[in-house]
Amino acid sequence: MSTVLIDIRPACSRDAVGISKVHDEAWETAYRGIIPAVTLGKMMARRGPDYWSRLTARRGAGTMVLVFDGEVAGYATLGPNRVKRLAYGGEIYELYLMPTHQGIGLGRRVFREARKVLNANKLNGLVVWALEDNVQARQFYTALGGVEVARTIEPFGEAKLTKIAFGWT
Ligand SMILES: CC(C)(COP(=O)(O)OP(=O)(O)OC[C@H]1O[C@@H](n2cnc3c(N)ncnc32)[C@H](O)[C@@H]1OP(=O)(O)O)[C@@H](O)C(=O)NCCC(=O)NCCS
Repeated sequence: MSTVLIDIRPACSRDAVGISKVHDEAWETAYRGIIPAVTLGKMMARRGPDYWSRLTARRGAGTMVLVFDGEVAGYATLGPNRVKRLAYGGEIYELYLMPTHQGIGLGRRVFREARKVLNANKLNGLVVWALEDNVQARQFYTALGGVEVARTIEPFGEAKLTKIAFGWT
C-alpha cells in the first residue's frame, strides 16, 4: 500500500514553475468559453514562472501551495481585502487546483488553511470574488458557507462579465 503525502504550506520561489503550470491548466479549463480567447491569452501570458518567482520571493505576499505527492497541484493567493466598502478583513485573491486534482476535497482543505493564515494575521472575515459564469466556483464557495455580499460588472475584452463577492464573517 502506498501513502500519498498532502502538504499545504507557504510557497517559495522554487514552487514558481509548478504554480505556473497549475495556473495555466486551471485557467484554461475554468475560463475558456467564458472570457474571450484573446483576452484570456493576454491575461495568462502575464503570469509565467518569472511572475510567480517574484511574487513568492516577496515577503508577506501570501501565496500558499498545495503539494500532492511531491508536485504542486494547487495554489492560493491571499491578503487584505481590497474593496474597503466590504467589511471583511481578508481576501483570497485566487484559489486554483490542477483539473486532475479537483473534486476530491482538496479545494476545501486549501480554503481552510488560507482562512487560518488570514486569521493568524488578524485579517478576520474573508471575501472571495468569482465570475458568475464560473458555476463550479460559485457552487464551491456556497458549499463552504459563503454568502453573496456584492456584485460588479467588469470588462474582459469585448465581454462584460459579472463578478460576485462571497463573504464569510
Ligand atoms: C473551485 C475549486 C477551487 C474547488 O476545489 P475542489 O477541490 O474541486 O472542491 P472540493 O472537492 O474541495 O469540494 C468542496 C465542496 O464544494 C462543492 N463543489 C465543488 N466542486 C463542485 C462542482 N463542480 N459542482 C458542484 N459542487 C461542487 C461540493 O459541495 C463539495 O463538497 P462535497 O464534495 O462534500 O460535495 C477547484 O475546483 C478549482 O480550482 N476550479 C477551477 C478554478 C476555479 O474556478 N477557481 C476559483 C476561482 S474564483
